[in-house]
Amino acid sequence: MNDQTAIRTVGVCGAGGTMGSGIAIVAARAGFRTICFDTRPEALERAFQDTVAFFNKSVERGKMSREARDAALGAMSRTGELGALAECDLVIEAVFEDLAVKQALFRELDAICSPLAILASNTSTLSITEIAAASKRPERVVGMHFCLPAQLMKLIEISPGLLTSEETFRKVWAWAETAGQIPVKTQDKPGFILNALLVPFNNDAIRLVEAKVAEPADIDLAIKSALGYKMGPLELIDLVGLDTQLRLCEAFYPITLDPRAAAPPLLRRMVAAGLLGRKSGQGFYRYEGRAMFGSA
Ligand SMILES: NC(=O)c1ccc[n+]([C@@H]2O[C@H](COP(=O)([O-])OP(=O)(O)OC[C@H]3O[C@@H](n4cnc5c(N)ncnc54)[C@H](O)[C@@H]3O)[C@@H](O)[C@H]2O)c1
Repeated sequence: MNDQTAIRTVGVCGAGGTMGSGIAIVAARAGFRTICFDTRPEALERAFQDTVAFFNKSVERGKMSREARDAALGAMSRTGELGALAECDLVIEAVFEDLAVKQALFRELDAICSPLAILASNTSTLSITEIAAASKRPERVVGMHFCLPAQLMKLIEISPGLLTSEETFRKVWAWAETAGQIPVKTQDKPGFILNALLVPFNNDAIRLVEAKVAEPADIDLAIKSALGYKMGPLELIDLVGLDTQLRLCEAFYPITLDPRAAAPPLLRRMVAAGLLGRKSGQGFYRYEGRAMFGSA
């Protein structure tokens, strides 16, 4: 029987960005036809070159066969036209963290996609219910929060909005498992699980640096060796971006009024100085080259 609601083609909005490029890899690697959309053609092109390099490195390291690499690359296409997403069964949005931008996109997607298509948001802090309100299909809108770097990290927090149907939730959960990811269910609350815990924790680490309690490397070493984490909080902030950490604080603090979620003054000063972490070459550590994309 031909299941009209089966997910075969996945669209990724913001596929030229940090998260979108990784999400596209997850989808294409799992065998889904993957349409990568971004409004910046140069970003889309750079992300594609990074994707090719990522798959090549995965082959070199014996993590992927040449055939699987060729199939994954063959499954991907790039477009600057939103209309190309009309044939998608699932569209995952990873554009700028701005409610108005996301709502405008959902309004347009709602108009061009099949009424059966599911629209998902990778937002870290915004409300899925508010994003869904821009569409006429809130029952088919859901949160799918991937972790950075999406092509390497398994977790996806899946968050139904107030009107998300059980069927939509089950379908994206099954899709995540088919794609080799680890889904967890969370409520539509700012930060879901991961950032609700990490934003205050990371700020605490910045405040330790600010108070000159210890050097970043010693703070990270203490956390890694005592708690078994793979990365310390300051290494992680450098990877995610200090500007992103600042934006997370600015989204969280007014909602939670948790003083630990308020941006530490040192974070603000470093962002103002352009010390954004790996992406700018310096944050709490110094970097050379683009070491972030990695391999499977
Ligand atoms: N960076 C992280 O650690 C992280 C982790 C999990 C989730 N997120 C979430 O993922 C989303 C994207 O974050 P990012 O860090 O990848 O941002 P980014 O700035 O790296 O990428 C955003 C991309 O979206 C594109 N874009 C903007 N508006 C668009 C539109 N209307 N249509 C199509 N493309 C558009 C931009 O050109 C850019 O390439 C945000 O919602 C963010 O909260 C980020």
